Amino acid sequence: MNLAEARSTLQAARRVVVLTGAGISAESGIPTFRDAQTGHWARFRPEDLASPDAYHRDPELVWEWYAGRFRDVMQAQPNRGHLLLAELERQKRAEGGSDAFTLVTQNVDGLHQRAGSAAPLELHGTLLSARCEACGHVQPLPDAATFTPPPKCEVCGHRMRPHIVWFGEFLPDDVLALAELQFKRADVALIIGTSSLVYPAAGLADRTRSHGGLVFEINPDETPLTQRASFSLRATASEGLTRLMEARDA
Ligand code: APR
Repeated sequence: MNLAEARSTLQAARRVVVLTGAGISAESGIPTFRDAQTGHWARFRPEDLASPDAYHRDPELVWEWYAGRFRDVMQAQPNRGHLLLAELERQKRAEGGSDAFTLVTQNVDGLHQRAGSAAPLELHGTLLSARCEACGHVQPLPDAATFTPPPKCEVCGHRMRPHIVWFGEFLPDDVLALAELQFKRADVALIIGTSSLVYPAAGLADRTRSHGGLVFEINPDETPLTQRASFSLRATASEGLTRLMEARDA
C-alpha cells in the first residue's frame, strides 16, 4: 500500500482507532523512554523509579522524579502531531458519532487533552493526578509551580502515590477492555510514536489485523510492528500525520 492509498483508506474509514507512545510528545520536548535519562536522573533507568518496589524503598526519591516530570509536562506545549489527531477526531466524530474515533495513549503527559482530544484512554495513567494509598481516591495534583510532594488525600488525609501504572502492575482493566474492543472493531488503526515493545499496548494492533482491519504505523524508526503493518511511514508524528491527512504543511 502506498501513501495515496493509505490516505484515501483513512479518509473513507468509518471506525478509526489510534495508539500513541512517547514519540508523539518528543517534538514537545518530552524525552521518550528509550532516550537516555539526563542530568540528576542519568544514573537511573525508568524501571528503577517507576515500580512499586522503588516506591516502597524510597517514596521521596520516586515522588521527586514524578514531581519533576509533572513540572516539565506542564511547561511543554502540545505539538502539531497532537493537534492533527484532535482534528482527525473532530472530523471522524462529526461524520460517524463518538464511536467513529478512539484515541488510546501510553503517554501520561496529558498533552492530547490539552490539544483538544476529548477523552483519550490513558492505559498507563497520568502525571497530572495522584491516587490515595489507603482509600484509592484520585485527585488532580495542585499547581505544578508550587507542588511539593507527597500530596495528601483530600478524603482520608493519607499519603498519595503517583497515578501511574508502574512496571509489574496491571493496567486499569476497564480502560484496557474498552481499548481492546475498539481496536477489534476498527477499520484502520494508527500506531504512532511507540516502540511497540511493552504489552499489552503493543498487542492492540494485532486485534485490528485479526478482525480484517488495516494497521498504519508512523515512526522515524522501524519497530517490531513494522513488518506486520499494512503501511508504515518513516517519519515523525507531525510530519507523518500531515502527509497522511493531506493536511496543509505547517
Ligand atoms: N515522532 C514519532 N515517533 C518518534 C519520534 C517522533 N518525533 N521520536 C522518536 N519516536 C519513536 C521512537 O523511534 C520509538 O519507537 O517513538 C518511540 C518511543 O518509544 P519508547 O521510548 O519505547 O516509548 P513508548 O513506546 O511509548 O514506551 C511504551 O514503555 O517505558 C514504558 O510505560 C512506559 O508507556 C511507556 C511504554
